[in-house]
Amino acid sequence: MSSKSDKLKDLYALAKLGGGQQRIDKQHASNKLTARERIEYLLDAASFEEIGALVTHRTTDFGMEDQIYYGDGVVTGYGTIEDRLVYVYAQDFTVFGGSLSETHAEKICKILELALKVGAPIIGLNDSGGARIQEGVRSLGGYADIFYRNVKASGVIPQISAIMGPCAGGAVYSPAITDFTIMVENSSYMFVTGPSVVKTVTNEEVSSEELGGAHTHASKSGVAHKKSANDVQCLDDIKKLFSYFPQNNKETPKKLDYQLGDEVRDVLTDCVPDNPNKPYDMNAVIDGIIDTDSFYEIHKEYAESIIVGFARLGGRSIGIVANQPMSFAGVLGVRSSRKSARFIRFCDCFNIPLLVLVDVPGFLPGTYQEWNGIIVHGAKLLYALSEATVPRITVITRKAYGGAYDVMNSKHIGADLNFAWPGAEIAVMGAKGASEIIFKKEIASAENSEVKLAEKEAEYAEKFANPYEAAKRGFIDEVILPKDTRRKLLKGFSMLENKKVDRPDRKHGNIPL
Ligand code: COA
Repeated sequence: MSSKSDKLKDLYALAKLGGGQQRIDKQHASNKLTARERIEYLLDAASFEEIGALVTHRTTDFGMEDQIYYGDGVVTGYGTIEDRLVYVYAQDFTVFGGSLSETHAEKICKILELALKVGAPIIGLNDSGGARIQEGVRSLGGYADIFYRNVKASGVIPQISAIMGPCAGGAVYSPAITDFTIMVENSSYMFVTGPSVVKTVTNEEVSSEELGGAHTHASKSGVAHKKSANDVQCLDDIKKLFSYFPQNNKETPKKLDYQLGDEVRDVLTDCVPDNPNKPYDMNAVIDGIIDTDSFYEIHKEYAESIIVGFARLGGRSIGIVANQPMSFAGVLGVRSSRKSARFIRFCDCFNIPLLVLVDVPGFLPGTYQEWNGIIVHGAKLLYALSEATVPRITVITRKAYGGAYDVMNSKHIGADLNFAWPGAEIAVMGAKGASEIIFKKEIASAENSEVKLAEKEAEYAEKFANPYEAAKRGFIDEVILPKDTRRKLLKGFSMLENKKVDRPDRKHGNIPL
């Protein structure tokens, strides 16, 4: 018996060593943790249970039968984060560069299936040279098996991807399907085709970092929801993000203990300047409303005219969507519409209530916007909010103009509670633009057209640049003082806790893509 248990011990020791000490040292020299170190840091101490440590590849081509590494380049299993069950896989770059073989893919699929059956989130730590070149189409089949399961799990369990090394070619599509992608700066990249193929096809000279590094995807493409300075920060970011989610689509996020007593927040009183054209930072409004230091921003550097992120309100997990007047006056464009629509859909899938803070002058004009489909992208945001059945509350802090008023969680598209601050302007457009159009002739024939315009502008503003026309019609439920916003929201979300909405039976809607 002892020789049998020795054999088992030896096999596990080999599995733990991955591709060997030399390759582990190389991994450390590139400022990267190994797959096992990453899992250990991510999960609660001693909570990891490995599944499939003794799996090996089945390839006999190219002398592969002599190159056997237990685990086959990916460590898979389950454990806990803050005592909550989670499934995890981490690609091991020390074994064939973490490349994906048929068996490597089978291991990932196995835990994806388990996560789906049990109803717990899955976290994938990617670090791979792509398809196992020695296996050809078997490896490609493995990718598709993973994509298929990612899609099946979408909207049922939260899926998080971290990119902690190379991720190229077909490999990129699993993270793209999952809910959130976090990239490590300077050691990760993602692209469909690398710099050498780009040079051949388009004659562009570009580095890996520029083409698909963390900064590029966090700020230019929006493929990455967050970038982290190193492996440890990336794993901390995952843990934080995970804390706002429920286990699956049938549950609600855990409400943390929170001692109330800070419902009235005077700091909100002076957040919005008197001059309607002066920008201000919507982050100050968010901070003034939520539980202290609870905001976790998503897509911080991408489409900055809208802010999205998770926060807590009286311990309850909420999703926030807010126009940012500091960036292009908070206007809606192609990117900001896509960014917010995707975020809203995640919150709706996983029962996270939505708070929408509105200060929007409209949609961004221009050929870039029109030719890049602002009509369709703006419709995504409109669609995502209209179909969301989670509790939804809106606060208009200043402007809500034109079609953007409708889109930003108006009462008309199903918001449950709509508040406005006293300085809110809910109108078709700003008073100046409106007066220039409807009083065009009067202004042109006036002795002093500037004085006339100012007169008409004031007249229009008096009539429409306020929240009271909308309140008269019930489009706004209540005009509230800024300092009372937190209190109103705490009560509102609590009142809406058991909200239920029935929708017509259908296979799925057809969101404009
Ligand atoms: N299939 C099989 N083995 C692979 C592999 C792949 N796709 N990618 C890397 N490896 C192996 C390498 O042969 C090397 O093996 P060794 O440790 O026995 O020497 C090991 O993984 C590390 O690769 P290396 O090239 O030394 O690492 P690097 O950090 O210098 O470069 C890559 C990393 C990913 C840029 C580089 O390995 C690469 O270009 N790989 C191929 C990418 C690709 O074309 N994939 C297929 C299409 S998706």
